[in-house]
Amino acid sequence: MIPNEIKEAAAYLQSRIIDNTTIGIVLGTGLGGLVQKIDIQECIDYKDIPHFPVSTVQGHSGRLIVGRIGGVPVLAMQGRFHFYEGWSMAQVTFPARVFCLLGIKTLFVSNAAGGLNPGFKVGDVMVITDHINMFGTNPLIGPNMDEFGPRFPDMSQTYSQRLVSKALEIGKAENLDLRTGVYVGTSGPTFETPAEYKMFRALGADAVGMSTVPEVIVARHCGLEVFGVSIITDSGVPGEIVEVSHEEVQKVAAAAEPRMTRIIEALIIDEGKK
Ligand code: HPA
Repeated sequence: MIPNEIKEAAAYLQSRIIDNTTIGIVLGTGLGGLVQKIDIQECIDYKDIPHFPVSTVQGHSGRLIVGRIGGVPVLAMQGRFHFYEGWSMAQVTFPARVFCLLGIKTLFVSNAAGGLNPGFKVGDVMVITDHINMFGTNPLIGPNMDEFGPRFPDMSQTYSQRLVSKALEIGKAENLDLRTGVYVGTSGPTFETPAEYKMFRALGADAVGMSTVPEVIVARHCGLEVFGVSIITDSGVPGEIVEVSHEEVQKVAAAAEPRMTRIIEALIIDEGKK
C-alpha cells in the first residue's frame, strides 16, 4: 500500500508540473548552478506541499522547481534531506516516491564526496557506476509498497549504463576529464577517520559521501533510471589526508560546478531527443 501522504503530495503537484515531465533532478552539492540553466515556470516551496518534509534547521525550507532545460521539461529539488539531519529514511526518500507517482522516469543526482581512489585528485568529477550502502539501514525496510516495486529489488544495474556511456562520450568530446567509480554512502555527519577511509577503499569504493544512496535505492525500487555524479572535494587517500571542513567542501564543489552542470545539461537535452 502506498501511504496516503505520498499520494496527497503527488496529487497537489500533479496539476502544477509540465505535462509529460519525465526528468527529475536532485540539485545536490555541485549542481546549484544548474538552476541557471532552467527556464523556470514555477517554484513550489516544500512547506506548501502536503506532507513534504520541511527543514527548520536552515533558513529556507527548500523548493521544487518546475521548468525546462533546453526545452526538456524537468522537476528539480532544490534542497535535499540528509539522514544525518535526523530525518527518517522514509522522509529522506519521500520526494523520490512522489517523483515516481508524478511520472518521472529518470533521476539525476549529485553530491560531494571524499576521494578514495589514489588516481583521483581534489576537484575531479566522478560519474557514479555503482554504490555500496553503508548507512547501516535501508529505506525499503518495512512493509513493501508493492505498487512501486518488488519486495526484493534487483540492484544489478543501479546506475544506468546507458547514461554512464553517454556521459563519458560527452565528457570526451568536451574535454571534461571525467572519472568513473563506486560511491559508498554512509550516515555521517562525521567525516572519516584515516582508518575508515582505508576501510572503504578496501571495500571497493572510489569515493565516500553522506547522501544519494537512500534516494537511489528507492528510485530503483520504483523503476526509475538513475544517473549520479560526485565532486571529489577532499582526499581520503593515505598520505594525502588533511583536515577537512564543510567550508572547504563547498569551495571545491563550487569550482567544479561548471563541469558537473554541463554534463547533466547535455544529458538532459539528449534525453529530450529520445
Ligand atoms: N567523507 C564523507 N562525506 C564527504 C566527504 C568525505 O570525505 N567529502 C564530502 N562529503
